[in-house]
Amino acid sequence: MVSWVKNMNYDAALEGKKLFLRSITLADCTDRYVNWLNNSEINEFLESRLSVQTKETVSQFVSSMIESNDNYMFAIMHKETGGHIGNVKIGPIHSVYKHAFVGYLIGDKNYWGKGLASEAVYLAAKFCFDVINLHKVNAGVIALNIGSIKVLEKLGFQKEGCIRDDVLINNVYLDIYKYGVLKAELIPPPPPPINILFFFFFFFFF
Ligand SMILES: CC(C)(COP(=O)(O)OP(=O)(O)OC[C@H]1O[C@@H](n2cnc3c(N)ncnc32)[C@H](O)[C@@H]1OP(=O)(O)O)[C@@H](O)C(=O)NCCC(=O)NCCS
Repeated sequence: MVSWVKNMNYDAALEGKKLFLRSITLADCTDRYVNWLNNSEINEFLESRLSVQTKETVSQFVSSMIESNDNYMFAIMHKETGGHIGNVKIGPIHSVYKHAFVGYLIGDKNYWGKGLASEAVYLAAKFCFDVINLHKVNAGVIALNIGSIKVLEKLGFQKEGCIRDDVLINNVYLDIYKYGVLKAELIPPPPPPINILFFFFFFFFF
């Protein structure tokens, strides 16, 4: 395979409205991050559920991602609180076909349902197309992971196939859906719904 030169000059491309992505570092491998991966509510659809995670295993993984030439791993940073709330990973990158997988995690349930994964995956996919010139971004999602399916479909990922009975969760075999998006299909995440109360107060007082 043709070797891939990692582009490290990308910070400006990764700023969103509610969050920004920055390269992950070993300092991010905190107990909090380890706990995300061991939490059965968070890891229900993640491979991390298959073994107990420790600071050592997480640091080893993060360090392999930092050193890897065909993977990028970003910390998802919440602008309002300044906290590290999850990760998004791009890779492995196929240097000839110019496609890559994207994987993502919002580690704290309090942050779910606020459009944060949608924004993070959008920024990561834009980075793939605009900065490292990939042709396609792929994702795989377990059929019961409705939140993740919604993230992908909101952003224009197309459902391309179903790998039947591919994983076993709680003694039930589940399908994996394969999704992919081309540059022209990528859609920015929708803005938050207009707050009805805001309009009520606006019209009442003005
Ligand atoms: C899946 C995950 C990334 C979604 O993150 P998120 O920040 O909550 O995603 P968003 O808020 O951007 O969008 C999720 C959408 O799905 C909806 N949703 C979530 N769970 C749902 C469910 N069980 N049924 C119906 N809708 C659901 C949310 O309400 C939201 O809908 P909206 O677009 O109408 O607002 C997050 O739950 C997570 O990190 N889970 C653990 C790790 C994981 O599964 N990663 C993905 C592996 S493929």
